[in-house]
Amino acid sequence: MLETIKYLIGSAGPSGFGSKSTAEQVTETCGDLRSITAIITGGTSGIGAETARVLAKRGARVILPARSMKNAEETRGRIVTECPEAEIIVMALDLSSVNSVTNFVTRFHSIGFPLNLLINNAGKFAEEHAISEDGVEMTFATNYLGHFVLTKMLMKKMVETAKETGIEGRIVNVSSAIHGWFTGDVISYLAHICRNKSEYDATRAYALSKLANVFHTNELARRLKEMDANVTVNCVHPGVVRTRLTREREGFLTDLVFFLASKLLKTIPQAAATTCYVATHPRLVNVSGKYFADCNETSTSKLGSNITEASRLWAVSELMISKGPKAAFDLINNLEF
Ligand SMILES: NC(=O)c1ccc[n+]([C@@H]2O[C@H](COP(=O)([O-])OP(=O)(O)OC[C@H]3O[C@@H](n4cnc5c(N)ncnc54)[C@H](OP(=O)(O)O)[C@@H]3O)[C@@H](O)[C@H]2O)c1
Repeated sequence: MLETIKYLIGSAGPSGFGSKSTAEQVTETCGDLRSITAIITGGTSGIGAETARVLAKRGARVILPARSMKNAEETRGRIVTECPEAEIIVMALDLSSVNSVTNFVTRFHSIGFPLNLLINNAGKFAEEHAISEDGVEMTFATNYLGHFVLTKMLMKKMVETAKETGIEGRIVNVSSAIHGWFTGDVISYLAHICRNKSEYDATRAYALSKLANVFHTNELARRLKEMDANVTVNCVHPGVVRTRLTREREGFLTDLVFFLASKLLKTIPQAAATTCYVATHPRLVNVSGKYFADCNETSTSKLGSNITEASRLWAVSELMISKGPKAAFDLINNLEF
């Protein structure tokens, strides 16, 4: 009850920020970001577009990978109109395809830019069951697996950049509080939705993909620490805001839900605040493997903090990429964790 009141009035937590803080406010003290190169996925709309605008306004060079070049150019145009100095580079990327991620990373490397910040923000909340070209359920492929591959392929560059510049590299995974809605066996349910259309529950699949973002953060943080890399990874719940995320379920029911929840909704500048805070704030140097909401550290679900499940998902993800999902699900049961 007290937490809800604090949320509604926007009371500041230990970070000095709260639910009503905006992305511009939380980046006021981050200094000049002109030495920072950032990749922001899903920057053509909603929370990602605001994150891109604010980081560009603070001086960061922003790479906007997008599946629609037209949408990305429009976003670039809007940012450049507001900040003529902004350096925004648009590149093609469809996160639901491992091939597209590989092509994007190859093109990114060929430009020769450093990489300080990776914001894994793009997301999909499918209504209907669909399978990606790699044989993976589409929401999971987009929200998690594409970002898993992207991060893995960019890691060497981030570690090198941090070493050469002395500036800590940061990865921010945009998850959701809805990750806590997923209960049950992660790998079994993933195998089920990759193989079966029957009894597809779109909300459960979305919750699974957001739980996977939490597992990815925890396991990657552990590995980065082991490597002694000057790169951190954290994940965030941005808050609930009406964006194009619900585009596949527009209609009276969705309008009603948003109307009833209107007091709890954030604006887009407020929803981008936690990402921008975690990506840039000096207070978070060396902070890794944590989960943030309303610009303050908080707890994940009990399952979200399960390190065995996190490493199982990591192993199955690697197998999915190297051997395909079918072989991955057959092999994972023979591995010990
Ligand atoms: N809105 C909320 O209440 C809420 C709450 C909790 C968490 N989140 C999370 O916040 C993040 C941003 O969501 P949003 O609310 O800002 O939604 P949004 O307005 O729909 O933005 C999603 C972005 O992801 C991109 N995207 C989708 N599929 C893609 C693909 N296959 N390849 C590349 N890019 C793709 C979209 O690009 P296109 O322009 O091509 O569609 C768009 O730029 C998501 O991870 C979401 O799960 C949102």
